[in-house]
Amino acid sequence: MQHKNIRFQIQHLDSLGQGVFKTDTDVFFIKKTLPNETGEARFMAKSKGVHFYKLEQVQEKSPLRQESPCPHFDECGGCDFLHTNYPTELDFKKTALTRMVQRLTIKNPEIIVHQAPERLHYRNRIQLHYDKTKKQLGFLSVERKILDTRHCQILNAEVEKTYQKLVENDAWLKMVEQAPKTGHIEIYHNKISINKPYAEGGFSQVYDQMNQVLKNLIAEKIEGKLTQKNYLIDLFGGNGNLSDQLAFTFKWIVDFYPKTPDSTANVQFTNQDLYDAKAISALKKTQDKLKFFECDLMLIDPPRSGLKNINEFLLHFFPKKAVYVACQASSLVRDLSTLHPQYEIEEIHLVDLFPSTHHFETIACISRKDC
Ligand SMILES: C[S@@+](CC[C@H](N)C(=O)[O-])C[C@H]1O[C@@H](n2cnc3c(N)ncnc32)[C@H](O)[C@@H]1O
Repeated sequence: MQHKNIRFQIQHLDSLGQGVFKTDTDVFFIKKTLPNETGEARFMAKSKGVHFYKLEQVQEKSPLRQESPCPHFDECGGCDFLHTNYPTELDFKKTALTRMVQRLTIKNPEIIVHQAPERLHYRNRIQLHYDKTKKQLGFLSVERKILDTRHCQILNAEVEKTYQKLVENDAWLKMVEQAPKTGHIEIYHNKISINKPYAEGGFSQVYDQMNQVLKNLIAEKIEGKLTQKNYLIDLFGGNGNLSDQLAFTFKWIVDFYPKTPDSTANVQFTNQDLYDAKAISALKKTQDKLKFFECDLMLIDPPRSGLKNINEFLLHFFPKKAVYVACQASSLVRDLSTLHPQYEIEEIHLVDLFPSTHHFETIACISRKDC
């Protein structure tokens, strides 16, 4: 079926940073647009009754629109906000999060935003897609095709240098000679890996400075308020990134990543699938062995899917304070909308770990009411 171009007028941006245009009968999502803009867009896909169109031309421009600092922005599927300035991007993110957390009861309902010092040149890890036959290497475009993104503006200097080495004289083609026809190449700082799972050596945040902002926030907002700092449990703790600078007598880090960093006298690493139905009873055995009784702080930093049974973990470990760090705000809202009445959400923070894209980290500071 031949789809005609549409003429649109954007009503608002959704939480993915896409412009939304609704008619009496249909809903259209058009990336790289801004509220009130009009223009023309081309059909890309239809899914679950909504239409995805690609921006062709803007007629009436928003005063918020700017020239993108990245030459790939119009086509690239990676960034969502480079057609406007950074304060506006943060406003859109804050509005989206405010709308999402309306379902929650929060003591201080104003979202506290932590902006990045630099909106570009920050990423320490990227995944490039390749197709040997077509000699293509790059990020996926808005239309899910491989795009040559060698001038991407959000890479840090080290990653950019490594990317340039790959594309110089098509050096990457030699590296994938023995690999399948299509696949991906990951760059982490100056390291290159081919067709390995994402973050093969263990998860780490992609923006070093903002990772430190996140860690400082936990230290100031939570650790600073605890009178007793004996025991801490760091669920989905990876290599202990979020807890390593906290001064607790004993730290217990749990993650399913198979390569456990070495445990020391006051830091215990445990490999455990936290989504397993028997996770808590498995942890209880270690807990008894460790004589880990009164928990002062629980950190919860799950993947996008969140932690549906967070109440079970809270009631089992019964921490005085908890911090939920979420890379997908909708999962956090789902999990905390039925928060056990013995706990309350004190504050919500938005930490912009992924400037220029629609992603960000949401942090909920949670307290036990009797503490
Ligand atoms: C968002 S990362 C956070 C890691 C760490 N807190 C940090 O700041 O670097 C999520 C972590 O969850 C772990 N993970 C994913 N699925 C898991 C599961 N089913 N059980 C336990 N850990 C899991 C990953 O290995 C990863 O380290």
